[in-house]
Amino acid sequence: MKLLLATSILTGVSGSETFRDALSNISGKTTTKYVGAAVNEGFFDDAHYKETSSDYYNLVTAENSCKFSAVQKTQGTFDFASCDQVAQFAEDNDMAFRGHNTCWGVYNPSWLDNGNFTSSDFVGILENHVTTVLDHYQGKAVAWDIVNEAISDSAPYDFKANTWNNITADADGINTNYIDVAFRAARKADPNAKLFYNDYNVASSQGWSQGKSDAMYNMVKSMLDRGVPIDGVGLQMHVGTGYDLVDGVIANMERYGALGLEVHITELDLVCSQKNGYDCVWSDDMEQQQGELYATLLKACLDTDACTNFETWGFTDAHSWLEDGTHPLPFDENYNQKKAVGSMLDILTGY
Ligand code: XIL
Repeated sequence: MKLLLATSILTGVSGSETFRDALSNISGKTTTKYVGAAVNEGFFDDAHYKETSSDYYNLVTAENSCKFSAVQKTQGTFDFASCDQVAQFAEDNDMAFRGHNTCWGVYNPSWLDNGNFTSSDFVGILENHVTTVLDHYQGKAVAWDIVNEAISDSAPYDFKANTWNNITADADGINTNYIDVAFRAARKADPNAKLFYNDYNVASSQGWSQGKSDAMYNMVKSMLDRGVPIDGVGLQMHVGTGYDLVDGVIANMERYGALGLEVHITELDLVCSQKNGYDCVWSDDMEQQQGELYATLLKACLDTDACTNFETWGFTDAHSWLEDGTHPLPFDENYNQKKAVGSMLDILTGY
């Protein structure tokens, strides 16, 4: 390391470090273990894609290939081939693998959405799925999103109407819900796996997301009070370059920490768009603003004990789930570093 530092000083090269190197060299106190990115195995034949992700990040999540629809496309037949590719990529490159996800109300196979199932059938299907997936990745995943996006977007923030919400009572007639069922099955299948609930519009407990954020906090607290196993929460953070609720994110992460839970920022991207209430025109200044916001959020995670993972949803603008031309990620369409990379490295190296 000393040699490397000396070399960079001599050659005047700055920014030669990557996020994962800089994180492992942090001398200050932080509990943050991961700087991660979602990856899609569909791009693994592009060496540049693979190298950039494995050079910079020490955690990956499969963008789609571990979801219910990918793993159990046909009822009762499990296919882990694509999800395994991402887990193997992580192992080959000494990265952590984060599982996403075992239960979600959308993008499910039609046999599940259109089948004629009773509440107890759904319990059986859900328990079987969660158990089989957790078994398969025993010891390989640092965390699993057991349930994704269950809470509605407006008051009274009930559970969204979806296939899984047909689960209303367990076999003994005791009131339950699909979230409890999924988390209980997961703990039973792999007592060592860290079990997460993951959602969007819940990162800040202040400002416009306060309502849904409080609802999620109350749901998670109720799970703990009732003895339903959960180890952490994922704050997705699909937000924009103008996001200004960082204090509220810190306060929110702290209240989960006070419950003894871990927080992962799981799907961060900072869109610049003229749509959906955003008012953003891409420019050098905007790139600078975006970079500073990435850095501020990273610092918030490093500073907050509960926050153990800082992860973006993809890493290059070439392959984002968001619309082309919205520039949401730290690397541009050609895998060149945007200003975000330097700003984030400054935070990590200065920590
Ligand atoms: C998205 C993927 O990025 C897309 O490729 C896919 O078509 C839909 O799902 N919240 C989540 C992620 O939890 O799984 C979603 O990923 C983005 C929103």
